[in-house]
Amino acid sequence: MRLMSSYGLVKIVVIGFGNVGRGLAKTIALKNNELTKKLNITVKVVGVVDSKGMALKKDGFTGIELLKLLEQPRSSVGSCEVYGRNYVDIEELYGEVQPDIHVELTPANYDTGEPGLSNIRRALNYGLNVVTANKSPLVKAFNELTALAQVRNVKFKYTGTVMGATPFLRALKWMKAHRVEYLRGILNSTSNYILTLMHEKILSIEDAVKEAQLIGLAESNPSLDIDGLDAAAKLVIISNTLGHSIRFENVERSSLRGIDLRDIMIAIKNGYVYKQVSTLDLVKKRASVNVERIPVNDVLAGVKGAMNAVHIVTDTGEYFFQGKGGGGVETAHTVLNDVLEIALGD
Ligand SMILES: NC(=O)c1ccc[n+]([C@@H]2O[C@H](COP(=O)([O-])OP(=O)(O)OC[C@H]3O[C@@H](n4cnc5c(N)ncnc54)[C@H](OP(=O)(O)O)[C@@H]3O)[C@@H](O)[C@H]2O)c1
Repeated sequence: MRLMSSYGLVKIVVIGFGNVGRGLAKTIALKNNELTKKLNITVKVVGVVDSKGMALKKDGFTGIELLKLLEQPRSSVGSCEVYGRNYVDIEELYGEVQPDIHVELTPANYDTGEPGLSNIRRALNYGLNVVTANKSPLVKAFNELTALAQVRNVKFKYTGTVMGATPFLRALKWMKAHRVEYLRGILNSTSNYILTLMHEKILSIEDAVKEAQLIGLAESNPSLDIDGLDAAAKLVIISNTLGHSIRFENVERSSLRGIDLRDIMIAIKNGYVYKQVSTLDLVKKRASVNVERIPVNDVLAGVKGAMNAVHIVTDTGEYFFQGKGGGGVETAHTVLNDVLEIALGD
């Protein structure tokens, strides 16, 4: 196991300085003193990287410097005074700042897994611990990356990839004595928010998507969410975490685009709602993300807006997890908990 640079000090580089990366920098700036008092651990950000450049400081940015970095517009950390470089060279970054943990927060790309896949491979091969919230490298190469981490004797944590702001994967990993047989849930905040608007404000899918875009929840191209790709990626990660390999291509999917206002009105009249339901049946070895009409008294019907929830059936009991699916600062807390766990030797 790779040792931290010195006891009580953990040095991280943050690759991807968008919503979650910035949320992480802000959280560390504001909470480091509290964490040091509580855990005897001080987290030092020694480098941040966006798509155009990087900023690095060998002995770590102070809280005030981190808050100052947040004032840089997107794609411009390389232009910050003193510490900025207007190019990205991650090997150079590692060489100069000698981090303990590589935190990968770049965007998901389900066709290639890049840039996260190559970044995580490089970090593990370099002998660094890795924490990520980016699903696509895991979807592309779960077995390869987890095996590589084992061979290199480093930690690889990805709790933020599923139900971003809720430690669901952590709980699932902990349940080693249970045999999980079946799981059903709402794993995509954006589509759940859109469907909630369609039911509560009687909006068309186009208008609901626009509202979700206005508050920054939906991307300009909402396909990953409304066509079920994001939720399918989460099922692949959950299944692999439980030791059952499934391929992204084999997750059956249907899109929210098939639902119109007439369907919504008829469903409401008859005591139903539409939900994007993700199902993983480990006995029948089937995974799906489907838009389903479910009764209003179904436990998933009450999960509204940006909330996520999962109902798990195991050989010894049933469990229900509910919490926020994402959010920059909230997901950053999950990422930071992974960092702290590694620093504490877990
Ligand atoms: N947001 C959430 O609530 C949430 C929740 C759970 C999981 N996640 C996952 O966490 C990851 C980050 O999400 P986010 O919302 O922070 O995304 P985001 O706002 O789009 O930020 C992505 C960051 O990655 C940078 N980037 C892009 N290509 C890069 C490259 N080749 N090298 C270095 N940096 C690069 C971008 O640079 P520029 O600034 O220059 O564009 C940006 O800073 C994603 O994989 C997402 O799926 C997000």
